[in-house]
Amino acid sequence: MSESTRRAPRSMAEEVLSGLQKPQKTLSSKFFYDKRGSKLFEKITRLPEYYPTRTERKILRDHIDEIARTIGPSSVIIEPGSGSSKKTRLLLDHVPDVVAYIPVDISQEYLGKVVQRLRKAYPSLIIKPVCADYTRSFQLPEIDQPFDYYVIFYPGSTIGNFHPDEAREFLRMLSQFMVPGGGLLIGVDLKKDKAILEAAYNDRKGITAAFNKNMLKRLNRELNADFVVDQFAHRAFYNEEKGRIEMHLVSRTEQDVHIQGETFHFSEGETIHTENSYKYSLDDFKALVSDCFSVNKVWTDKDDLFSLQYLVKKENID
Ligand code: TRP
Repeated sequence: MSESTRRAPRSMAEEVLSGLQKPQKTLSSKFFYDKRGSKLFEKITRLPEYYPTRTERKILRDHIDEIARTIGPSSVIIEPGSGSSKKTRLLLDHVPDVVAYIPVDISQEYLGKVVQRLRKAYPSLIIKPVCADYTRSFQLPEIDQPFDYYVIFYPGSTIGNFHPDEAREFLRMLSQFMVPGGGLLIGVDLKKDKAILEAAYNDRKGITAAFNKNMLKRLNRELNADFVVDQFAHRAFYNEEKGRIEMHLVSRTEQDVHIQGETFHFSEGETIHTENSYKYSLDDFKALVSDCFSVNKVWTDKDDLFSLQYLVKKENID
């Protein structure tokens, strides 16, 4: 998520063209998530090398009673980037008297299906889906029932996909939905051994590679681009200095790609940067959020791979 969080909306074509015109070619990671991309992402979360999802789920399970108590009753749960809403079910099953659930997702098709399933499983819960690019300011729907406060659920270490400056901006935007008493339950992947990190983004089955390359297929389909997908390779590595995993698509040869009347030249080995995944220490993260939030609780797994944190909005911020 390299886009600034509150710029005027631009079309996908505009964003793609301007990203590819940069000296380091870039494509925004939000374009990963078309229907196939969302499915491939689901597969990534089940890979043996990809520890974040199952570790976060275990933390959530192991501490669900305390988490539920921390959230408290009569809340409305908002989930930006809800995807399959799987982890949310644990919350919905344990947090007392949730008044409503607001999943926010960019993929209309996926959101519709997930909500259909949730309505069956939770017939008395008010569910108000919002289809939006949640990195831009979005509107919350009316909830015509009394509730105490909003709790924002932001699992999956998606915060790590923002540049730290943009993460700060984004957290400020989220804090504006909240009143004192409300909280932000957020998953944060932790710094650790480089080999573990790199394996997680270079799985042996090549699902992450397929996910990365799917972006090019999507641009071919939706913007009439002519990427030869096999002429690009997946590359992911840990940039220690910046504390982040970087994902790139590497041009295997010198080649030209055409999109909407523009020509983009690639030299052999030139890359398109598609994603960052920043890793934080607990102290790093506390400092990152400190403009708007204090860290109220932190739950981790026994190997300190991942953390789930409950942040509360500080007093006296706008
Ligand atoms: N936020 C998670 C992470 O950075 C999930 C994720 C987002 C991801 N984009 C990804 C995982 C691309 C693999 C590849 O790990």
